Amino acid sequence: MYTSKVMDHFMNPRNVGELEQADGIGEVGNPVCGDIMHIEIKVNDNKIEDIKFKTFGCAAAIATSSMVTELVKGKTLEEAEQVTNRLVAEALDGLPPQKMHCSNLAADALHQAIQNYYRKGGANE
Ligand code: FES
Repeated sequence: MYTSKVMDHFMNPRNVGELEQADGIGEVGNPVCGDIMHIEIKVNDNKIEDIKFKTFGCAAAIATSSMVTELVKGKTLEEAEQVTNRLVAEALDGLPPQKMHCSNLAADALHQAIQNYYRKGGANE
């Protein structure tokens, strides 16, 4: 039921873990199932220099988390803010309709991490 891209990112998730010193942190829970995604970003020169995630969730949640980190690594904060849940799902060649709610975690957690970075007033030194 999953595309080969979803299976690839689920079996070999990219950018899993935590950063030594995160500049922004986002965490969202999925109200439908209770799964959680945690994302950390390192910002340099207005770009996402590094990004890591930890997701306690289903295969679709892990694959979308992994894909969102790949999509925005090296991008400016403004570009990263344009990434939507739908775009992440499309980058994975789609998700089964009953799994679309799982894709909500990825971009939402990313956007939260960016907002957290702005609220804190910039990067850690
Ligand atoms: Fe919870 Fe997919 S079932 S995120």
